Amino acid sequence: MTKDFHSKPFDESTKLKLDIFRECFKEWLPVFIHNPYIEHVFIFDFFAGSGKDKTGFYGSPLILLEEARGENRKYCTKVRKKVTFNFYDRSAQKIEELRRNVKDFFWECKEKNCCKECVYEIEIQRCEFKKLLEKEEIQGILSNTKFGKFVLLDQCGFKEISPNVFRILTESPKTDFIFFISSDFVRRFKEHPSVKRYIDTSGINVDEGKPIEYHRAIANYYRNLMVGKENYYLHHFSIKKPKEKGGNIYGLIFGSNHTLGMEKFLKVCWKHDKYSGESNFNIDSDYEEGNLFYNPNRTNKQIKMRQKLEQMILSRDITDNIAGFKYALKNGCLPILFTEVVLNLEKEGKIRREGDVKNASTNIHKVKEYKINVISNEHN
Ligand SMILES: C[S@@+](CC[C@H](N)C(=O)[O-])C[C@H]1O[C@@H](n2cnc3c(N)ncnc32)[C@H](O)[C@@H]1O
Repeated sequence: MTKDFHSKPFDESTKLKLDIFRECFKEWLPVFIHNPYIEHVFIFDFFAGSGKDKTGFYGSPLILLEEARGENRKYCTKVRKKVTFNFYDRSAQKIEELRRNVKDFFWECKEKNCCKECVYEIEIQRCEFKKLLEKEEIQGILSNTKFGKFVLLDQCGFKEISPNVFRILTESPKTDFIFFISSDFVRRFKEHPSVKRYIDTSGINVDEGKPIEYHRAIANYYRNLMVGKENYYLHHFSIKKPKEKGGNIYGLIFGSNHTLGMEKFLKVCWKHDKYSGESNFNIDSDYEEGNLFYNPNRTNKQIKMRQKLEQMILSRDITDNIAGFKYALKNGCLPILFTEVVLNLEKEGKIRREGDVKNASTNIHKVKEYKINVISNEHN
């Protein structure tokens, strides 16, 4: 795990991880740039690395800068507030290389686009992650409600996102985060004191016969740390390395205290996994493309979620659209799934909708509430 990450070409699973970082940030940035209540936007890459792999393939910091420019410079030409990128790494060598790579990036960007000064502010500093989190300056930024924060934590391994770090992240307002974790390593060495010191593995519940579900279980471990945070959203994406590379599973965990943050992340996840929206392999044993029974609209995850939503509506545990949308989001499904269930129940004459009834199922923070009345069912 301590091997130099940038000394070889990135493999396909690392490129997928970087793609997800890219798409996640691409969805996030315009929301915060255009939000009139946000005065200053901060992008933190706490484990930034050198910026490129051996072949020149972009790592996370350059990916973030590239996305902040946007296609045809659609963001940098329009930004009207301060946007600061903070890149950190504990390695002096990585920081030196990153400074060089960022300088080259700006030089090329200015040349190509004929601009004098970049609108973005960049801070590159050598520093240990834990020390940074203790700094008053960083704490002040994270706790400021007028600052929008995107936090990327591409740690090596699993040790950095302790329960306390996780608490800080989930309690920071206007802050979305995404972190990497080497889930298979935690699974294989779960009894080892050097793992237990950082993660209470007794709190990870997983069927031992299903190692492919370990990242899902780790995400649940973090979910269980969020006692009393009903309006917080967490989702995960499992990435399996190819067999010839060991087939290990690691993954990403994304957190947001806003429904829009989770909607955007789920959009990225379902784009990459049309079966379950959570992995780069067939985690729920669905029929695959080419099979006679393949149906991307009726995958095991979707069927299970539809049944659960139907049951909760008919038993009156969900009585309005907003609660239904949030339930879907909390369980890794896009809100449209809830609307499909409601429309079906309505068609079957089992429910009636009352109030401002519309079928809008995106940007759910802006959707008006309607009530759902159960007409007749076996639960009556
Ligand atoms: C997996 S690499 C990050 C790769 C980077 N995101 C990219 O896309 O190229 C992890 C980086 O974190 C740095 N690192 C490891 N432990 C650290 C710590 N405790 N604090 C800060 N940086 C650390 C390493 O030097 C390494 O460059």
